[in-house]
Amino acid sequence: MNKVITLDNPPVNALSFAYSEKILKEIEAAENDASVTSVTITGANGYFSAGVDVNDFAKEWDPSGTTVRDIIEAIERSGKVYIAAIDGVALGGALELALACDRRVATARSKLGLPEIKLGLIPGAGGTQRLPRLIDAQAALQMMLKGETVSAERALELGLIDVIMSLSNDPEHRAEGAPDEGTHTKRRVSELKVKLPPSTQAFALPYVIAQAHKTVPPEESGGLAAHKLIDAVQAAFELPFSRGLAREYRLFDELVGSAPSLALRHLFFAERELSKIPSLPPAAPLEIKSAGVVGGGTMGTGIAITFANAGIPVTVVEPSAEQVAKARQTIFGMFMHQVKRGRLTQEEAWKRGQSIEFSDDYAALGECDLVIEAVFENMSVKKEVFAKLDAVVKPGAILASNTSTLDIDEMASVTKRPEQFLGLHFFAPANIMKLLEIVRGKSTSAQTLATAFKLAKQLRKVAVLSANAFGFIGNRMFFEYTREAVALAEEGVPPARVDAAMKKFGMAMGPFATFDLSGIDVFWHVAQGRPDLALARTPILDRLYEQKRLGQKTGKGFYTYAEGSREAIRDEEIEQLFAQLAKKAGVTQNPDVSDAEIAQRIVGALIKSGEEILRDGVALRPGDIDIVWIYGYGFPPYRGGPMFHSQQELAHA
Ligand code: 3HC
Ligand code: NAI
Repeated sequence: MNKVITLDNPPVNALSFAYSEKILKEIEAAENDASVTSVTITGANGYFSAGVDVNDFAKEWDPSGTTVRDIIEAIERSGKVYIAAIDGVALGGALELALACDRRVATARSKLGLPEIKLGLIPGAGGTQRLPRLIDAQAALQMMLKGETVSAERALELGLIDVIMSLSNDPEHRAEGAPDEGTHTKRRVSELKVKLPPSTQAFALPYVIAQAHKTVPPEESGGLAAHKLIDAVQAAFELPFSRGLAREYRLFDELVGSAPSLALRHLFFAERELSKIPSLPPAAPLEIKSAGVVGGGTMGTGIAITFANAGIPVTVVEPSAEQVAKARQTIFGMFMHQVKRGRLTQEEAWKRGQSIEFSDDYAALGECDLVIEAVFENMSVKKEVFAKLDAVVKPGAILASNTSTLDIDEMASVTKRPEQFLGLHFFAPANIMKLLEIVRGKSTSAQTLATAFKLAKQLRKVAVLSANAFGFIGNRMFFEYTREAVALAEEGVPPARVDAAMKKFGMAMGPFATFDLSGIDVFWHVAQGRPDLALARTPILDRLYEQKRLGQKTGKGFYTYAEGSREAIRDEEIEQLFAQLAKKAGVTQNPDVSDAEIAQRIVGALIKSGEEILRDGVALRPGDIDIVWIYGYGFPPYRGGPMFHSQQELAHA
């Protein structure tokens, strides 16, 4: 007789300590029942299982209690045949459970993976030992190093599953028709031999480097999950199964308590909190079937590409023929690049390109479900645009602004639909950066917000809600962050040293390099409108603006750039200019500051600003701020974002 055990622990059948104990009992019951010859393990709720319950790591991870490891060990000891019948997602510990079974079958829609590395962990229930035994060892290593999820089709190609088949909706008959169901031939993966080429280290190195950047500061390589993963896989071909497994368990248990894993787990949950808006009445989102963009400049073009990539046709209204030609060229170049990289077929690229239309007539936007404005950062220009849009765009459609700093309510006031008005603040390049700030105006309706969050998912963006306040979340903090960098330079620390210290801290880019990339003029313009801003009171911006040192675009800013190059070259003229300005302002020069102090001051300014933003209710939660800085500004994920970092520092002070 075949017994079916269904993983049913909503929402995603996570294998918590308590739930593992329940499943273990079901397995023991099957083991003690002589009439049971085979056991099928399957999942309810549209998932196989998302793996171990990540919440359990926050408690004391106690491997001596019941975990998925015990379930797996019971299966391994058993003389009965176990079949994993997968429909939906099988991740982490759940895939490891499937790997311990004698057969694996999956439906076509299923997705399988060992994503532990994304949480700063390694597979810790035998995955590092079984996967390289079951499939090509290089492919196994790659899957685990990248935390890659594969489709059922790819899993079949790799030999990870035996067959793709449909499963009955009736749990009791779930895997009926699975090959060899009910037979007594055990096929233990642990008994297979690993065929790992001798060049593991060389093969893995690029992934280690890529992962190192994301998960751990270089100087703390002891916590580096990628290194530990390689250690564990190495054990799979050097040691007998049981000793390899013991090594994996030890390495995993060490990582659970590591600072990078703590930070990455915080981000996992913070990301899932984002769309939970307290006190917002439930509302059904509208479907966005077509979109419009006004302004085909840097941002408008990137936003149009983002919609095309999500399969939503988009019309761009841009009055300048020259700008349209430039935008078309950017779009063509970007899709060609994707084709060259093998990420898109020629046909798909063509289709996406064709889904972006240009017009110089606002009437072309009449039937769009959503129109995003991305014209110059100027309130009167924007108000004029929205008055026109309100007149031509069908009633009920949503109007949005991509403004970086301006007042959403003032723009909404020129329309008759303030409930269907909001800010959708994309980051440059809009088709690449994952962050989207959703700015809630005073009249923005629950339905408009729900639509924006749903749309963000379709566009593959991570959306964070911000109140309508100057600079929203990210830029308001960014101005304080850059202000502190400028203060250090005024005190005699060369910009190149400030940037190097911040990169050492883990930022993707130093603050002065960011100034040069965005353009000094952008900051100067913001400063003109906001004289109360601390950054506006630093004379350096005026001086650089006067000298047309606008950054990369003019070949000179806080650094110099050779013609056509983005390589920032240290410029002593800038250091002298800072020295002159400091002298005039009576600022004492003290270049003798350590890298750690530099980072502490700049990140300190960032945190202080984050605290103000929370106090003012601009951001809902500290985790929302962390996500903004991780996805929008290159804050190192292994530090969990500025607010989490500050909490950790306090805890260890
Ligand atoms: N543990 C605890 N909760 C989990 C979870 C997990 N492994 N996976 C998902 N959840 C929760 C989410 O927090 C969310 O909760 P909420 O509704 O209260 O916010 C809910 O499940 C739904 O998750 P999503 O919103 O992400 O739903 P999606 O359908 O978009 O995605 C998913 C589902 C693909 C399973 C995605 O959640 C995911 O990738 N989860 C993480 C999987 C993972 O990393 N597994 C490895 C765990 S570590 C492990 O197994 C160690 C082992 O090797 C020993
Ligand atoms: P841009 O100068 O590259 O493009 C603006 C485009 O709008 C130009 O092509 C112009 O011809 C067009 N335009 C001007 N008036 C118009 C009108 N009345 N109707 C139709 N089109 C009109 O500017 P960019 O950088 O794309 O910025 C656009 C908006 O996005 C601004 O509000 C900016 O603050 C915001 N933003 C910019 C970011 C950046 O890094 N560049 C990042 C996030 C937001």
